[in-house]
Formats: sequence, structure tokens, C-alpha cells
Amino acid sequence: MSTEKKFKHTDLREWNHKQRQLLKTTSEKLIKRIDDAPFGQEAKLQAKKWADNESFGSVAWALFSATPIIERSEGSLLFDVDGKEYIDLLSGFSVNQFGNCQKELTKIIQDQAAKLTHYFDFPHAERIKLGEKLNKNSRMSSKTKVAFGVTGSDAIELAVRAARYYTGNPYILTAYGDYHGVTYGTMGLTSKGGMQPYFYPVTPDQHVGYFHFPHAYRTPQDAYPGWGLEALKIFERALDGKETPYTDGCFGVNNVAAILVEPFQSSAGYYVPPKEYLQEIRRICDKFGMLMIVDEIQAGLGRSGKLWAFEHSEIEPDMICTSKALGGGLPIGAVIAREEILTEWGPAAHVSTQAGNVIACAAGNYVMDVVSSKEFLDQVNDIGSYFYSGLKNLQEKHPIIGYIDNMGIYTGIELVKDRKTKEPAIDETVYVRDAAVREGVLFEKGGYYHNRLQCIPALNISKSMLDRVLDKFDKIFSETEKKFGIK
Ligand SMILES: Cc1ncc(COP(=O)(O)O)c(C=O)c1O
Repeated sequence: MSTEKKFKHTDLREWNHKQRQLLKTTSEKLIKRIDDAPFGQEAKLQAKKWADNESFGSVAWALFSATPIIERSEGSLLFDVDGKEYIDLLSGFSVNQFGNCQKELTKIIQDQAAKLTHYFDFPHAERIKLGEKLNKNSRMSSKTKVAFGVTGSDAIELAVRAARYYTGNPYILTAYGDYHGVTYGTMGLTSKGGMQPYFYPVTPDQHVGYFHFPHAYRTPQDAYPGWGLEALKIFERALDGKETPYTDGCFGVNNVAAILVEPFQSSAGYYVPPKEYLQEIRRICDKFGMLMIVDEIQAGLGRSGKLWAFEHSEIEPDMICTSKALGGGLPIGAVIAREEILTEWGPAAHVSTQAGNVIACAAGNYVMDVVSSKEFLDQVNDIGSYFYSGLKNLQEKHPIIGYIDNMGIYTGIELVKDRKTKEPAIDETVYVRDAAVREGVLFEKGGYYHNRLQCIPALNISKSMLDRVLDKFDKIFSETEKKFGIK
């Protein structure tokens, strides 16, 4: 993969056509990927059936060369249809916070399924309990209220609508690299250039603006640059003047409803920004009269070693979006916001048939009890630092490891061809991911330059399981360095 493509103006129409061809795939190509996969016979057979029956647009084709066909699970292990074992560093994308099929959760779900499963978007006993718990654990000093949805995107759409309604302002500002969902109502807030062509015209609408996300590893001077906290200064400077659509800082005009941020950038590659990042956003919001919304859908609910990732910055947001792990494997989304934001609108401002589903709320009540407890979070920090120090040891041995992000068990690994130039190891990262599938470890590959490993273990993964992961990483990194001549 190269970032060096250059086009003449006369090429552009042809390029638009080529872009579509580039994104497209064929049955033959997908079948070949399955044939080449390190799967047994049954997995290959089922993968082919899946490819035959479902849309080519499945994200599974983007995240793996061929995605294992899983049949059952035990804690941090997944087993495919041939019985091949995989260590789970995906956790269903930050959903299975306590591993797969955790006993207490399974029992709660089974018991609730026998009592009451669905009651439209209406109040029921489990929902009332969960609303109370979310408010109690908002870590915000003023009274809060909750609005329920079904998915993460749903929570974001709810928050954006509430912020616009409450303030009367249209603009939502967010960071490059943030991921806030890929529904029609959220795609405009998500920086995935490769996905945008599937969403033309991209909504919410043009009232969206972006600023740069700061991270410690790359500087603006690097050949493959990144931004530090200076990005926020430049952003603020622009708001101070009159030449942005967002403000006229000189005359005190503000057209922005809210700044919406992921406290850590997950889908982009598991990046942990400096602690000052959210402090700067909070300060800018207060200075110009904007609301601050934090998207805790992936980094929240204990993964960072605190209940909410924003707590590491010692600030208070105005609104929190949560989902994923909250339902213990069942879909639910929620917004927690300062009371006055969610009391501004009137009845039927939001409704969704499956919002606040009964079984998901019952599971959510258990999830909230566990992830808000100090003992549990202490354990997350303990196993997180165990994993981090194991990875640091690997970094001493393996030049391919350029940088490791870690907070709690939230962990991203950046791979480079050369530590001095920080040239991203793009092909190598694909190789590492594919070798890991062969060796029985599943994780997502990401990164601004397609060169990071996103490790999302269960929050209660054992140290012995992490040792197995580290051994496998050691073997795979050695193999990759040898193959690509990285010294
Ligand atoms: C930070 C963040 N926000 C929002 C979403 C969207 O959630 P969903 O896929 O449930 O709509 C995701 C999903 O990965 C996410 O990671």
C-alpha cells in the first residue's frame, strides 16, 4: 500500500471510476481468500455459504482476509466450527467485557427471558433500575437524566439531536480519527475516508467540523506526521477569529452546539491522547459556550481502568454516550446528560421499538454493578499493567514495535519498519494479523497509517492467558521481522 499516489486534473474522472473498481470485490476473490485461510474443512465450507448468501459489504471482509466461523466460546477463548481455538482479543468489539458466556450474565439473561422480554420503548422495572444506576455513576456533579436507544450510533444521534435542540445551534465539531458510528445519521461524524463513498450524500449535513487529535508518538515534522497538543491551540486560535463557520470569536458569536469526542480513539487504532486533550476541549467548550459530549461507547465501562475514560483527565462532560458492553452482549445504547439538556424537549422527541430492551437492561444492571466497583477496576489495572510490561519486554527485543499505548487494559501497538523514521509497517501489519489468525489469536488491525494492532481482551482475562498471547506475539513478530528484513 502506498500513500504516494498523485493525479493530474485530467485523470480525475477516470480516477472516480477507478475508485469504485478499487472498492469492489468479486465472488472469485472472496472464495480464494477462504481457500487460502488457515481453516479446517467445515469452517471453509461455512465461510463459502456465508459469502454466497450475504452482501459483499460485510465489515468482516475488511477486518480479516477471511473471518473465522465461530461456534462456541469459553471466557477468553473462541472455538470455530472445526474446534480450532482462538484467543479472543476482540471481545465482540468491546462488548463481552467479562469474557464470553460469563456465568452470572448468562443466568440473568435466561431468567429475564422467562419473565419479560420486550415492552416497546416503555418503562419497565429493569429499565428504571438501569436509568438510576447510570445517573448515579455519571461522575458528573449536577443532576443528570438518561435517554435510551439500541446501538452506539443511536446514542450518538440522540446526543447530537439533544445538543442541537437544547442550544439551538447547528454545528457539531469532532476530531479527525474519531469514530461515532456509520449510520446515515452519524457517518458525517466519522473519519473513515474509505467508507464515505458508500454514504453519499454524507449526513448529518454540512454542519460538522473537524480538528486534529493529539498523540505522543508522531510530530508534525515527521515524514509520516501526527499532531500533539499544539493542534488544539491552532483550533482555538481559529475559533478566536471570525474566519470559521463555527464562531466569530471577536464578536462572541457561536454557531456550535457541541464538541463530540472519543476520550481515546478506538476504531482509529487504540490511541491514548495526552491527559490535557480533554482538559483543553473542556476549556474551549466553556470559553465559547459549547456543550461537551464524550463518546464512551468503546473506551468506557472499565476498559481504561476507570469506569469512564474521561475520568483520567479529571474533567466533567455535559453528556456521555454509552453502548456496546452495557448490554452484556445484547444491544442497548444510552445518553447520560445534564438534566436541563434532556428536559428541554417534549414527549416523543425520541422513540425506537427496541430502545431500552428488557433483557438488555437486566444484563446492564449487572454490568454497571461490576464495572463501577473499585475492586473490579483495581483488577483491570493490575492485569492491564501486566500486559503492558510484557509488551514493553517484547518491544526491547522487536524493532518492529514502534510505540505501545496502554491505559487499564486498553492497548494499541504501533508497528514500524524503522524506529528512527517511524515509517509505518503497513504490509507487515497485514502479515502479523494473518499470522495471528493462523496461530489462533484474534484482534483488529487499525491505525492512521494502517499499522496498528488493537488489543481488546476481556477485562477479566487471566495473566496465564496473556502469557500465551505474549508468546504468540513474540513468535509472530520474529517471523515478520525475518520475512521483511526489519532489524
Ligand atoms: C466510539 C464508538 N462510537 C460509536 C460507535 C457506533 O456503535 P454501533 O456500531 O453500535 O452503532 C462505535 C462502534 O464501534 C464506537 O467504537
